[in-house]
Amino acid sequence: MENIKNIFLIGMMGSGKSSIAKILSKKLDMQLCDTDNEIETLCEMSINEIFDRYGEEKFREMERRYFIEMAKQDNIIFATGGGVILNQDSRQALVKNGLTFFLDTSIDVLLHRINNSSNRPLFANYNKSKVLSNLFNDRIKYYKSSCHFTIHTDLLSLNDIASQIINKYKNES
Ligand code: S3P
Repeated sequence: MENIKNIFLIGMMGSGKSSIAKILSKKLDMQLCDTDNEIETLCEMSINEIFDRYGEEKFREMERRYFIEMAKQDNIIFATGGGVILNQDSRQALVKNGLTFFLDTSIDVLLHRINNSSNRPLFANYNKSKVLSNLFNDRIKYYKSSCHFTIHTDLLSLNDIASQIINKYKNES
């Protein structure tokens, strides 16, 4: 990477991407892009409705297109959707267009955080622990190959995580 432009947060649903991106955006005075929120605004539909009406494949296509376009810009903090790494072009953008942090959170903590979440269509299943473990096992290779740094988040506060990211970002700039 020649010069660092953006900060990308990747990781499973419930790993804290949106909350940490908000803190980073304030502390670094950089624009925030929470891709799920932006896609919801553009489509005038919730992620649940998009999945219901068009299916996961169509959502992935919207996510890829939106993300690739936005990632060409500079000085943005991105909270990505948990599945952004499923697409090869998006993985390439994560590696080349900024500094990418993988928020690595254990299944137990993820489960605790999103157990009652109603806006995560992939999670609307009775065996939530199994769903999460399967998704994580399928994706871990992509999370690892798409990031520059991994942060193990279980024992850290949101502010601690944000501080670690800011330190690494400043060291690399
Ligand atoms: C998804 C994660 C969600 C959202 C969609 C699919 C996934 O985003 O993009 O429900 O495949 O992991 P969050 O990671 O922000 O929950």
